[in-house]
Amino acid sequence: MYATAPLIDVYDHSYLNRQINTVVNDHTGRTYPLLKDIPVLLHDRYMRGNNEKYSRLYNWIGGSYDFAEKVISKVMYGNQIAETRREIMSRTQIKNGDRILYVSIGTGMGLNYLPSDVDVSTLEITGVDISIGMLQKCSKNMKKWGIDAELINCCAEALPFEDNYFDAVFHVGGINFFTDKQAAIDEMVRVAKKGAHIMISDETESIVKDTDRKEAVRPPLAMIPFEMKNVALETFWKGRFYCITFQKPEPQHLTVFH
Ligand SMILES: C[S@@+](CC[C@H](N)C(=O)[O-])C[C@H]1O[C@@H](n2cnc3c(N)ncnc32)[C@H](O)[C@@H]1O
Repeated sequence: MYATAPLIDVYDHSYLNRQINTVVNDHTGRTYPLLKDIPVLLHDRYMRGNNEKYSRLYNWIGGSYDFAEKVISKVMYGNQIAETRREIMSRTQIKNGDRILYVSIGTGMGLNYLPSDVDVSTLEITGVDISIGMLQKCSKNMKKWGIDAELINCCAEALPFEDNYFDAVFHVGGINFFTDKQAAIDEMVRVAKKGAHIMISDETESIVKDTDRKEAVRPPLAMIPFEMKNVALETFWKGRFYCITFQKPEPQHLTVFH
């Protein structure tokens, strides 16, 4: 059995105990279901607004998402989607042996585009997503591709992991329409180790498809906590995707207020 991240309760942050068909908080007695081995740890507070809408949409399209990407790539964009994915994943700064967290892993497609010097079998991979449909497809893909990954159904805004656990945390696609982007960014920072690299990428205003939205899409640069180091913003594929990278400060960089 490969190593997996210890799980915590998204409501009270007590450690959870994984059993055969359920996950239990021994402190409160609360139980959470396992659906085909995937713990369901969604936080009620964030299952509203866009999160409710998109979790339903992705549950519906989960099974055909990869096929749709393949067809769209072939018919409309040649190999540009693959190239963009490769460029974006190269910004994760993942190293062999790392514990990595992929926020909104979807069907796991991004894992095919890790930098070529990374040996995926050395990684402890955790993937989270709000859509159980996408995760079930991801689980099948992981088996097909021979990748060991722990998959968890949860909201990016309430991650069921302890503080300072992951060496690299990244997100590709989705954050533009999260119900609470600030909470999601704060959670990615909380679970990243000190010194860890964090990467956040999504579509720019030029190609977003959601016509219901009330405001323009902007890379959430202003939401990156001020103490983060080496904050950088890049765009890819003629400005269609943005990518924000930054580093959680090492202890000596943390500001102490008296
Ligand atoms: C455009 S897909 C991208 C999937 C994958 N990262 C990829 O690159 O193929 C967006 C994903 O974000 C997930 N998502 C949307 N809102 C979320 C939230 N609040 N927390 C976690 N995942 C979310 C969706 O379920 C979906 O799998």
